[in-house]
Formats: sequence, C-alpha cells, structure tokens
Amino acid sequence: MRIRRTRDQVRPRSDSDPVLPYPNGWFCVGTAAEWRPKTVLTKPFMGQEIVVYRTERGTLRAVRPHCPHLGAHLGFGGTVDGELLVCPFHRFAFGPDGACARTPYGLPPRAGLQLVPVTQAAGLVWAWHSHDGTPPSWQLPEKLTRLSTRHIHIRSLEVDGHSLDVAENAIDFRHFPHVHRIDAEALSEPKEDGPFYHMDIRLRRPMPPFGTIVQDFSVSLIGVAGPFVEIDLPLAHARVTGCVFSTPIAPRRNRIHFVSAATFTRPGRPSRGVSRIAAGVLESAVSRVLGRYHYRDAAHDFPIWSHREFLPHPRINGADSPIGPFRIWARQFYPSVGEDREAK
Ligand code: FES
Ligand SMILES: [Fe+2]
Repeated sequence: MRIRRTRDQVRPRSDSDPVLPYPNGWFCVGTAAEWRPKTVLTKPFMGQEIVVYRTERGTLRAVRPHCPHLGAHLGFGGTVDGELLVCPFHRFAFGPDGACARTPYGLPPRAGLQLVPVTQAAGLVWAWHSHDGTPPSWQLPEKLTRLSTRHIHIRSLEVDGHSLDVAENAIDFRHFPHVHRIDAEALSEPKEDGPFYHMDIRLRRPMPPFGTIVQDFSVSLIGVAGPFVEIDLPLAHARVTGCVFSTPIAPRRNRIHFVSAATFTRPGRPSRGVSRIAAGVLESAVSRVLGRYHYRDAAHDFPIWSHREFLPHPRINGADSPIGPFRIWARQFYPSVGEDREAK
C-alpha cells in the first residue's frame, strides 16, 4: 500500500458562517497503516479528539481521550499492554470494553473509558459519529470492505469547506465542465438506499491527442463521507476504483482521503498473458497514476469549497443536477438544528 501525505493546500479561514451540524455516520480518521500493533494516536474528529489504538493482537479500538481517574489525555503518553490501554499518569489500564481492568494500587474504579465504534475498510480506519451517542445503525458496504488494499494508493490532506461539500460535489455533475473540463450527463435518476445514494453518470473526457474518452460509471455515496466509484474496463480485464472521503474535523474544516486502486486480476486468476507479479506491478503503477489524476481533478474544487457559503435553500433550476433530492436524503445524517453545531 502506498500512502502519500500532502501538506495543507488551503489555509483555514474564519468559521463565522452559519453551517451544518456535524453529521452522523462512518468517517475516516486515518490510514490503517498508521496503526501498527501497540500504536496509540490522537485524531481530530467532529470538533473533538479521539484516541485510536491497536492492541498487540492487532485489534483496532477508539476511545474518548480523557482518563476517568484524574483526567489525563490517553493520547499523550498512553501505551498498549497486550489488549489493555494504559494511562500515562497513574497507569490505570483499560480493557476492550472500556472498563478499568487493572491499577498499580487499590481496586479498579468502576468508571471506564467511553468507546467510539471503529472499523477498517479500503486501507482506511473509520470511526462512527452519532450526535446523541447511539451505536452504529448501519455498516460500511461490502464493496468497500472487500476492496483489495494490496496496491491501493491513498492521499490525504486538510481542506476548508462544509461537511456536505464532497458528497454533493459527486452528484453535482453540472459543475464538471466548468471546474474539471469534463462533459457529464446523468444516465439515470438517483437511487436512495438507506444511508447510500447511487447515481449513474457518463463522462466525456478530452484526452488529446487520442480524442475524447467516454466513461460510464456509478457513483455510490457512503453516507455523507463521500463517493465510491468503480469502473469496469472489460477489454483490459481491469477494474479501477476511486474514492474521495471527507471527515469533518473542526468548524468548516475537513480531512480528505483520496483512495485509488486498479485491479488487473479477476478473482482467483491472473489476466490472460499477464503473470500475477506483473499484474501486481501494473496495479501499483496504475493506482499511483490514477491517484495523481484523481487528486489533480479534485484539487480544482478546493478553492470553491473553501469560500463557498452553504445555502440551505439553494435557487436551483429544472436542469440542475439532483441537488434537491440529494439534500432531502442527506437530512438523515444531521441532527436537528440547534444540536451539535459545527460552528457558532
Ligand atoms: S489519570 Fe489516568 S490513571 Fe490517573
Ligand atoms: Fe468537483
């Protein structure tokens, strides 16, 4: 797996706009490769911090950062001992259920750590956010969890913007010609499927000197984290995957993960004439090139997102992309106005 870190491209700006609350759902907090066994890291998440750690046996866990004993931050000096997370202050140790399992003196207090649901998919670590603390009401889709991470390419950076920008961007095909220089049309009406939203789009991408390449693909939104796109290329025995996942970390500030992957091997057997090793080298190279294109395309959106105002009642016209139905679908991820505000 290749992971490339990028310095922030767009500086933070005032968070004085009226904006959305933090959304509910699964959101990426980092790449799986960041957590080797016994690693403890603090991550910004929905205006707060969470401490994510991997136990010696490799299980990933996340907790709210402060120790219930005397309030130390577990992300600053906390360590993993077997399956326990040990506080740096008085070395009280907490088990997988968050309960205090051991202390160097006296009985463990009954208070425990507050767990944050966490999982791993597509080379990324995902944490669950719910404004009222309810457990996950849905799971990540299988096509995401079964994505091979062998030759995946991930790029990550922070960008200003609203929590809905990335998801809405994927279905707003009317901006593609003007921002990305790609002609686009919808091939179908959007389909809602609970926390997922699907839409088929046709792109016409000028590729001089080869002419124009036509690509049909399905966009699937994973909640409001962002789009998962898979394109099958039967002639090349290939499937390419591109994802852009956005995680609100602070008011009007998101961490974005770009995921690109190419697979030249049908399940269980290499493509005709291409050895498994050669296919792997090719997958890796194509994933990297795809990642570069993918990032370059999306980077054109950054200045728009950084300076955009979120309009709850946009003045769309009849030929616009399906912003209205999308916004109605997206309401399920946001608490009622007044709760858990993203900015004041
Ligand atoms: S504050 Fe964590 S063990 Fe005392
Ligand atoms: Fe865009």
